[in-house]
Order: sequence, then C-alpha cells, then structure tokens
Amino acid sequence: MKYFATTSNVSRRAVDCVIVGIYERNKLGAGASDIDAASNGHLIKLVKSGDVSSAPGRCTILTGVPGVRATRVAVVGLGKPAGLNATVYKKAVAAAVAALDGSRTKQILNTLTLESFDGSNPYYLARHAVEAMGDTLYRFTEMKSGRKKKALALSAWGSSIAKRGDAAKATRGAEHGDAIVHGKNLARDLGNLPANVCTPSYLARTARKLAAGNGRLTTQILSETDMKRLGMGSLLSVTAGTVEPGKLIVMKYKGAGNAAPVVLVGKGVTFDTGGISLKPGPAMDEMKFDMCGAASVIGTMAAVALMKLPINLNVLVPAVENMPGGKATKPGDIVKSMSGQTIEILNTDAEGRLILCDALTYARRFKPAAVIDVATLTGACVVALGHHRTAIFSNDDDLAGEIFAAGDSAEDRGWHMPMGEEYAAQLKSNFADMANIGGPTGGAVTAACFLGKYTDGLSWAHLDIAGTAWRSGAKKGASGRPVPMLAEVLLARAGVLP
Ligand code: BES
Ligand code: MN
Ligand code: ZN
Repeated sequence: MKYFATTSNVSRRAVDCVIVGIYERNKLGAGASDIDAASNGHLIKLVKSGDVSSAPGRCTILTGVPGVRATRVAVVGLGKPAGLNATVYKKAVAAAVAALDGSRTKQILNTLTLESFDGSNPYYLARHAVEAMGDTLYRFTEMKSGRKKKALALSAWGSSIAKRGDAAKATRGAEHGDAIVHGKNLARDLGNLPANVCTPSYLARTARKLAAGNGRLTTQILSETDMKRLGMGSLLSVTAGTVEPGKLIVMKYKGAGNAAPVVLVGKGVTFDTGGISLKPGPAMDEMKFDMCGAASVIGTMAAVALMKLPINLNVLVPAVENMPGGKATKPGDIVKSMSGQTIEILNTDAEGRLILCDALTYARRFKPAAVIDVATLTGACVVALGHHRTAIFSNDDDLAGEIFAAGDSAEDRGWHMPMGEEYAAQLKSNFADMANIGGPTGGAVTAACFLGKYTDGLSWAHLDIAGTAWRSGAKKGASGRPVPMLAEVLLARAGVLP
C-alpha cells in the first residue's frame, strides 16, 4: 500500500473515492465544503433533504457528483462538532471503509484528517484512520474451505492536510498505523487459530519466520530439556500432562546498540483445559485464546520491526498446553521455580502465573529497562473491568502511568489496579513458600501479587487482558489488543511521537 499526504483541493483529485465528513445541523467538514463548492451546492441539498446522515458511524456513497473528479464520494456522519474525538473519528473512517468493501475502489483520499479536536494532530489523524481501516478489513478465513470473498484490496491511501509542513507527519502516522495493523492482524490470526493448529511449536515457528531475513531480529527456541537445565520447575509443571512439547521462545530486536532492552513477556497457553482442576464444558473452546498474551507480544515485535524503531526489545513467550493426564500436575503438588521459591499448586487451572514466573526470572539476564508481561490471566479481571479496559498492575507507578497514557493515546485503554502486602498475604501456604491461588476474592490482584514475588528490583508491569483479548458471542474472535497500547509505549520510548 502506498501512503501519501496532499494539500490539493479534494474535488480535483482523480481517485476512486474521497471520504468527507458532515456534522449535525447541516454543518459541512472541510472536505465536504470543497465538494459542495465544486458541485454547486449538490451536497448541501442532499444534507438538507435528509438523504445523507450526519449521525456518527453512518455513511452514504455518492457517485457521479458533478464537478468532482473522484468516482465516489463517501459522506460520513461526524455527529455534533463538539463531540468529535478519536473514537468518533475512527468510527467514521470505519463506516466509510465498510461501505466501500465489495466495490472496486483501489485509491482512497481521506479528508477527515482536516478536522480537528482536543489533542488531535496530523500524525494521529492519519494513523488512527489506517488503524480503523485495518480493523474493518480484517478477515479470518484460513480455516474455511471453498471460494473466499476477498476484502477490499486498496493500493493507495491518502490523507488531506492543511499545510505542506504536515506532510511528513501524516505520512509517517499512516505508515505507523500500517505497521500496527500488521502486528495486530498477526496477533488476531494466532489467537483465532484453533489449538490443534496453533500449538507451542507453531508459535515457535511463527517467531522463527518473523526473524528470518531481518538483520535486526533473532529468535531462539528453548526446549523442555533446556528449561529443565535452567530449573524452570514451575513452567514445566504446567506442560506435564500434555504430549505437546513446551517451548520458551526468545526474540531479540536490536535497534539501539547496547541500550538496556524493554522485555515483553506473553502468556502462551495454547489451550487451557484447567488441567486436573478441569474447567467446566460451556465455552471451553474459548480457552484457545489463552495464548493471546503471547500473540500480542509477537505482534508488537512485528510492528516494531516494520517501523524499524531505534530501541532494543526482547520478547519472551513461555508456550505450553495445559492438559489433564496420567503425568499431569495434581492439586497439592509442590514445585520449585527457577527463582528458587517453592509453590504449592492448589489449583492447576491457575497455570498462567506458573509459566510467567519462570519467564520473568529468565528476563533478569537481559538487565532490562522495563519488563511488561501480558496475559489472559484471570476470570476475576473480566468481572472487575469487563471487556473494555486492560488491567495494569505494577511495582513502579511511573511505568504504570506510562502504560496508562499510552493506552489513552493509542485508543487501546487500560486502568491502573492496586497491589500490596494485604493482597499478597492471601497467597500463604502451609507447606511451600507460596500457594498459586489467593482465595475467592480479589483474584486479579492476587494473581498480580504472585508475579510480583518474582520481579523484585525490576521495573515491572503486568497487563491482564482476560477481558480485552477476544470477543465472545456472534462476533467471537481475537481483538489484537493490546498491540496498539504496547506499540505506543515503545514509540514513546523511541522518541518518535510528535
Ligand atoms: N485462562 C484463565 C483465565 C480466564 C478465564 C481468562 C476466563 C478469560 C476467561 C486462567 O488460566 C484461569 O483459569 N484462571 C483461573 C484462576 C483461578 C483458578 C484462581 C480463573 O480465573 O478462574
Ligand atoms: Mn487456567
Ligand atoms: Zn489460562
């Protein structure tokens, strides 16, 4: 896809489609005003007659508009002028792209980048539009047989800008949006694949492929034998009941010489039956999504590599399948983690923390600037925050604030959650250094406190994405979150944001 920015009058661009916006009470956006002037009031007539809607998320496609060189004009509703924000803006772009899907449109010029709202700038306007387009056009058809309907195949995407000086910013925003879409789509694909395809070995192969031919990126795969040698008794206890070999995937991206890396750790449970503490049957298929943390950190790595960011980034993925079986770990079993701390496994369904704690200990060898783990860790997190915000836990308030702010500007929001001794005390065990569950209350917090016992001295944050990583119901599928939030953290650290 070619991304461009232009100051030219929209009515004179011979593209397949221009997107223009209208507000309530017959107020035209900048692009719509140009179209209206060139067509001698054609557009305002349609607005006044009620044939095009100004409601947010509505789109009307006009063809053959007099005086306009574009084949199509996609008129989208922007609602009240004062109500315009990044969310409404993205919804408007998405409506236009959805309305064009199925047409032969190849080039689009988006004039909504000429609108402005609190905190908007050409970089984010261009980027968010491309992200909205990517979300709208995403399909997962890999597992369907027969002829597949192709999504709109675009070759050029333009952003209208008010002054030439903004061209580089808008183009860069669009290109960053494209990279984030790629990373997000990779995360969604991995999440949507069934567990009989997306095994720990499959995740490892995907990571290897990403690094192939990229001079800045290397991938290393540790086997169960390697992990045994490292003393990862906690991680290995989760993979004891399955015949699928567990893997520890290590990816390193070098874009900043010897600077301390950021380390992202992603929970990669490719299927979570609960183990001997077996989960109930209904909706158990959704536990194929229990590797969405892994998918999101691999997707973020893909985006960072595409953007060639001047940072160092390591990604760690403990990848296992959690199954019952003759050799499976039993409730009451005690294991020794790589840190030396012992764990009484009171519930084999609290397995995410058992693989993450050893990966977090492994992360220490990189002397990281910050460590962020991402995991579909607790049902309790879904109860606490629903499906809208990712839970942010941290032992470093600055890091939590940084991630929270990144979520806001990337439109992929989180919420800072508490930790503390009083919660950690719920993990006491009569027989080992700690238990792997903290009782029926505050489950998302006690899970974070468990991980906190392995991150002393590190600047560390834990993101519980149990509510945000996928959608259930009719639109069941992986969301690709929190790739935008993580990419934003790294873009900010790289110092390349406006
Ligand atoms: N993968 C689940 C968490 C989960 C459950 C995410 C439902 C999304 C929806 C995790 O491994 C798990 O089973 N957690 C248990 C922990 C409990 C046993 C302390 C849970 O949340 O029930
Ligand atoms: Mn579980
Ligand atoms: Zn799980």
